[in-house]
Amino acid sequence: MDELRIAGLPSIPPLGLGTWQWGDRLIWGFGRGYREDDTEAAYRAALEAGVRLFDTAEVYGFGLSERLLGRYYHACSPRPLVVSKMFPYPWRFSRRALLAALRQSLLRLRMERVDLYLLHWPWKPVPLEGWAESLAEAYELGLARAVGVSNCNLAQLERVARVLARHRVPLAVNQVEYHLLERGPERSGLLEAMRAEGIVLMAYSPLAMGWLTGRYSLENPPPGRYRAQRYMRHKDRIPALLEALDQVARKHGATPAQVALRWCIERGTLPIPGAKNAQQARVNAGALRLRLDREDLARLEGA
Ligand SMILES: NC(=O)c1ccc[n+]([C@@H]2O[C@H](COP(=O)([O-])OP(=O)(O)OC[C@H]3O[C@@H](n4cnc5c(N)ncnc54)[C@H](OP(=O)(O)O)[C@@H]3O)[C@@H](O)[C@H]2O)c1
Repeated sequence: MDELRIAGLPSIPPLGLGTWQWGDRLIWGFGRGYREDDTEAAYRAALEAGVRLFDTAEVYGFGLSERLLGRYYHACSPRPLVVSKMFPYPWRFSRRALLAALRQSLLRLRMERVDLYLLHWPWKPVPLEGWAESLAEAYELGLARAVGVSNCNLAQLERVARVLARHRVPLAVNQVEYHLLERGPERSGLLEAMRAEGIVLMAYSPLAMGWLTGRYSLENPPPGRYRAQRYMRHKDRIPALLEALDQVARKHGATPAQVALRWCIERGTLPIPGAKNAQQARVNAGALRLRLDREDLARLEGA
């Protein structure tokens, strides 16, 4: 199986699991159709299938995602890498808020340090350089084994990298939206620049919030206004893309979700699909064992 290395951390298979769903009622409907038992089963199934990185954040389920992940982490082995993030709420006026938030996350996760800690969005009121100083401090204090950012464009990434370099702290990752319907990081040059610097692109919403799983279509969109509307600017491309995913999946005896995730892996990124239950976690981890040839990639990208 192929491996991916995040600076400062051991190599892992190039697919993680996202846990925004674990506790979130508003967008994902936690408690309606899936509950804690299902998320625990998802954790175990993913571990069993070789997944070694779980992504959470203080905002997911207002801390519940971190609590659940911490509970499962301590109950099962082997121990995967754990990623969490600080949300720059507008009332966080001081860069010190980052360390305070990290300490609260560690309490919920019941850990002494997190493997990777990210700034969730490059937002004020604290200038990006201030947040970057605090990320360096988290690393120097040993509260995070590696640090990075999320939702940064190239210019923002460079500002953070400059600050971290002064502290000799590697900028390990930038977590951004990336999948077959959202290829902005390629067009902007972000992906290529990150590759050149050895910064890992963690691809969030790699299934376009469910749109690329084959379960939904323009006639049958995902539940909830947010998920249903989010990709409507691409609505002319969606039917052809779903058709291409289905064709490639059939050819390999795979599912459209596995093909969509494998495409992210083939682009050198680390997809972190969200899973609500064991079945989804198991299917998604199957992308680690799938191989796509040049013809498959051309068909997907052409669509
Ligand atoms: N840094 C950031 O700003 C940011 C933003 C967004 C997400 N993230 C992270 O990225 C992770 C993934 O992104 P995401 O959750 O937005 O979207 P996603 O991974 O593209 O989609 C996840 C959803 O797709 C459906 N699904 C997953 N696997 C499936 C399968 N095998 N078969 C059928 N349906 C399946 C499930 O929803 P249904 O069952 O309801 O269809 C699941 O909740 C999040 O959990 C979070 O950790 C980070």
